[in-house]
Amino acid sequence: MSQQSALHVAKTQAFAVRTECRRYEGRVAIVTGAAQSLGRVIARRIAEEGASVVIVDIQEERVKRTAQQLQDETGKPVLGLGGDLSLPGVADEVVARTVREFGQVDTLVNNAAALIRMRLVDFTEELLQKAVNWNVWNTLRCCKAVVPHMIERRYGRIVNIGGEAWRTGAPFHTLLAGVGKGSMVGLTVTLAGEVIGQGITVNCVSPGGMETEADGDPSPSKVSHRDPSWTGSDVMKELAKLAAARGVSIGRPAHPTEVAAAVAFFGAPESSFVTGQHLGVSGGMAML
Ligand SMILES: NC(=O)c1ccc[n+]([C@@H]2O[C@H](COP(=O)([O-])OP(=O)(O)OC[C@H]3O[C@@H](n4cnc5c(N)ncnc54)[C@H](O)[C@@H]3O)[C@@H](O)[C@H]2O)c1
Repeated sequence: MSQQSALHVAKTQAFAVRTECRRYEGRVAIVTGAAQSLGRVIARRIAEEGASVVIVDIQEERVKRTAQQLQDETGKPVLGLGGDLSLPGVADEVVARTVREFGQVDTLVNNAAALIRMRLVDFTEELLQKAVNWNVWNTLRCCKAVVPHMIERRYGRIVNIGGEAWRTGAPFHTLLAGVGKGSMVGLTVTLAGEVIGQGITVNCVSPGGMETEADGDPSPSKVSHRDPSWTGSDVMKELAKLAAARGVSIGRPAHPTEVAAAVAFFGAPESSFVTGQHLGVSGGMAML
C-alpha cells in the first residue's frame, strides 16, 4: 500500500474517525516518520486535539511540506524536522530542538519504520543492516533521548507503533515484524517497568493492514521512499491468501484515523493508569 496517487480516493473513507476531544491542550508531542501515511495522520489527530507537534522524518523536504500543511489544517504549531533517526545524535537534537521551541515534550510517538518484507534468506547483508537500523535503532534512540527530560518533569507518554505480524507468524516479516516489531513489544514492557515510578507510561499499538494512502495529503508524492525491491512480487498475494483463510476478522484494511485514535488515547494525559500494554488495532487479525 505504498504507492500514492494525487487522485487517490480512499476505500475506507466511510470508517474515518473524527474527534471532538481536546486532550492535548498545552501539550507538546513528537511524532516520528510523519512525513506521510500513518505518522501524518497521528500528528494531525494530536494537533487537532490541541498539541504543538514536532514531526520528524528522513524525507527532509516532504516532512517540512507536511508540517506546513498540518499547521494550516489544524491551526496548531507543527514543526517539521528532517533526519535519519537511526543515527547517533539525531534523536537527541530533535528532543533538544523541541524543548527549545516549545518548552517540553509530553508525548513521543515512535512510528518511523522501514517496511522491508522479504524472506530472511533473501536479505543481503546491506539490507539486513538497514532493516535493523530503521526498525529498531530509531525507536531505541528516541526513547533514550526523551526519557531523561520526562523523568525530570515526572511526566511522559511514549507510544510505540508495532504491527500484528510480530504475533501472527506471517511470512516475509522476520526482520520487519519478528525483529523490528517484536523488539517494540519487548521495549515497551521493559521500559514501562523501568520508568513506572516516574510518571511515564509506555504502550504499544499494533496495526494490521491499513489504507495508508488515505493520509489526507492533498498532493502526495508519486514516488514512495520505500524501495520497490523491499517487497517481493509474491508477498502481497500470499499475505492476502493467509488473511482470507482467517475465519474471524473485520475483513478490510483500517482507515489510518482508526489507528490514530488508539495512539491518541495512549499519548494523552487520561491514560495515566495504563502502562506496559500492547493493543492490536487490526480488525481482529489477532485476538488477545
Ligand atoms: N502500512 C501498514 O499496513 C502497516 C501495518 C502494520 C504496521 N505498520 C507500522 O505502522 C507504522 C507506519 O507505517 P506506514 O505504512 O505509515 O509506513 P510508511 O513507510 O508510509 O511511513 C514510515 C515513515 O517513516 C519514515 N522513516 C523511515 N525510516 C526513518 C528513519 N530512519 N528516520 C526518520 N524517518 C524514517 C519514512 O520516511 C516514512 O515517512 C510503521 O511503524 C509500520 O511498521 C504499518
